[in-house]
Amino acid sequence: MNLDGKAVANKILDRIKQEVALNGKKPHLAVILVGNDSASEIYVKNKQKAAEKVGILSTVIKLPETTTQDELLTKIQELNNNDDVTGILVQLPLPEHIDKNSVVTAISAKKDVDGFTPENVGRLAIGLEPYYYPATPQGIIMLLDEYNIQLEGADVVVIGRSNIVGKPMLQMLLKRNATVTVCHSYTKDIENKIKTADIVISAVGKKVVRCKMVKKNSVVVDVGIFRDANNQLTGDVDYATVAESTAYISPVPGGVGPMTIASLMLNASKVY
Ligand code: GUN
Repeated sequence: MNLDGKAVANKILDRIKQEVALNGKKPHLAVILVGNDSASEIYVKNKQKAAEKVGILSTVIKLPETTTQDELLTKIQELNNNDDVTGILVQLPLPEHIDKNSVVTAISAKKDVDGFTPENVGRLAIGLEPYYYPATPQGIIMLLDEYNIQLEGADVVVIGRSNIVGKPMLQMLLKRNATVTVCHSYTKDIENKIKTADIVISAVGKKVVRCKMVKKNSVVVDVGIFRDANNQLTGDVDYATVAESTAYISPVPGGVGPMTIASLMLNASKVY
């Protein structure tokens, strides 16, 4: 059965819209986009569209590729100090001459809708409530919950250890009492680990989950999205051959992608 991210995301967006309309202070998301990365431009447009749909004010600040790190940090300070702005998102990746971690660290934790600042990451890691959970893992948990997929005691294999998906996914699954194995490029015998998993979550951007790898009746969540040799949008999972072994599987597109956007809007709707 498909995990229908699009349908679940639309339900969540409807709920956010109602709540935003009822709440006092209007949320205002500021998105900073540095340079001309074409994928980033599409992601930012989609975030803007979703914000508009749920009644969240959004401002996109486009800065040239040549922006210096100091200029970017100054812009972030300005937004931190602006009481009209309730959320700040710096679209990644940044140009190479800018240190991503310095930029992320500069964002006020209470406006960090991505949940990427050391304060929010640290709070999640030590069991304090972060001001925001990272959008993609939060969206995946909401999707699994919608289908009543049990996390407590489940053996989960996460493929990929990025700050955006793999690492926060690990923390959020631990919080839900799952047993988590995080695999990456140095992992020995990934196939055997996948074979024992109740839930596989793949976030690497390469075809890594193929036929006969997964356990019968397992759950597979595909976070990858990229274009294949035929320029078709595809994910990490070879859907056609893997789906038949699974109880639930998320398609690409229409799975994790829309959930990430809905999850980000949930974050952006919060006002501290
Ligand atoms: N680039 C890819 N994913 C993300 C994300 O979740 N947040 C930001 N800011 N940039 C990204």
